[in-house]
Amino acid sequence: MIKKPRGTSDILPDSIYKWQYVEKTVKETAENFGFKEIRFPTFEATELFLRGVGDTTDIVQKEMYTFEDKEGRSFTLRPEGTASTVRALVENGLYGGTMPLKYYYVTNCFRYEKPQAGRSREFTQFGVEVFGADSPLCDAQIIYLASTVFKKLGINGIKLFINSIGCPECRKNYHKALRDYFSSKEDELCDTCKGRLVTNPMRILDCKSPICKEIAAPAPKTVDYLCDDCKNHFESLKKYLQTMGVEYTVDPTIVRGLDYYTKTVFEFVYEGIGAQATVCGGGRYDGLCKMLDGPELSGIGFAMGMSRLLLALETENAPVPEQKHPDIYIANLGEKATAFATKLFAELQSCDISAEIDTVGRSMKAQMKYADKLDVSYVLVIGDNEVDEDKATLKNMQGGESVQIKLSQACEEIVKIIGGDING
Ligand code: HAM
Repeated sequence: MIKKPRGTSDILPDSIYKWQYVEKTVKETAENFGFKEIRFPTFEATELFLRGVGDTTDIVQKEMYTFEDKEGRSFTLRPEGTASTVRALVENGLYGGTMPLKYYYVTNCFRYEKPQAGRSREFTQFGVEVFGADSPLCDAQIIYLASTVFKKLGINGIKLFINSIGCPECRKNYHKALRDYFSSKEDELCDTCKGRLVTNPMRILDCKSPICKEIAAPAPKTVDYLCDDCKNHFESLKKYLQTMGVEYTVDPTIVRGLDYYTKTVFEFVYEGIGAQATVCGGGRYDGLCKMLDGPELSGIGFAMGMSRLLLALETENAPVPEQKHPDIYIANLGEKATAFATKLFAELQSCDISAEIDTVGRSMKAQMKYADKLDVSYVLVIGDNEVDEDKATLKNMQGGESVQIKLSQACEEIVKIIGGDING
């Protein structure tokens, strides 16, 4: 038996309704906030992520699915959506018009990580990205969008943590402080972090190695090295969040695992879904557009892991609308009855009624049992006698009244009772 690759999953038809509900909710919320959907390729030139996500990040150094095509060009399955969104914006010249630009995506991503609950090698992200809005009000607005998604889904136990990691100017002093701090502990760091000490010491702060984590815990914090502009931006963000009634905790240890962030960074964490508790992560990335050969355009966004969102939903016991069941099962037996039922089935489907009919040659008793299993709302029982007498019983399977209908007007009568669209 051929098995699916480790760290991937099949979402089976019996549980797909939960995914569809969550996807519908996130899309509707994003659209209410004025975001439009963007779709981009599953694989991109590897260089996009080397430059966009950053060549000293865990994602680039350890987790990318990179391959050469038949002509020797290097491509990578996207590990996230921000770099692709910026690439699409630059390549398609979307930046010429009115600002801000607001895009969202629900898309699968690929990272070669050690699989565990809430962490897989192929996963789906819902992400939003805003371009051309410098105000901290925009930061507050997209955080509010994320918290609206959680509220709508009934995930009340989620907590928001915010931080500021400053701009390239404040970063210089901060990097120096980190190098001073880590230099005396260099021997204990993992090999990757030894290199990072030279190239990008901030990346040591989100290394997954337990030893590096322990060494990094008391390291200098970004908030103590912010320039006045970054400090003001962070203070204004906090005020806007208070105005919008969003509760938050400042966590000065958040630096995020991607290189493009500037100023605001934030994470929504749901304790109780295991070690992978960060359901949503995001922040501002004012230099990314320029770095990817575009204009100087600020950016901010977030992404939520859909599987972690579902885990939180289930842990919280939040209600999920049930899967839709068919409206009507047309049970039939006999040549005339089957011909009539087949025609009625086609007519009802044209009127947007979800009808089911036997296609495997079941007996009448077995058809009734099957209709019960499908949890249909109505069953119409037709034998040759019913066709001859032009009447049949429409049985209400949900405990309501059963009614006699005229078969010659079956479609119209059923549509009236069930509520389809007679004009198709
Ligand atoms: P990220 O923190 O790498 O940020 O990922 C965002 C979210 O994707 C995480 O909080 C988590 O819920 C989910 N996620 C990440 N890796 C996995 C995995 N292996 N399995 C399951 N879920 C996972 C980004 O990707 C940024 N692009 C977010 C962003 C958008 N920042 C600005 N705009």
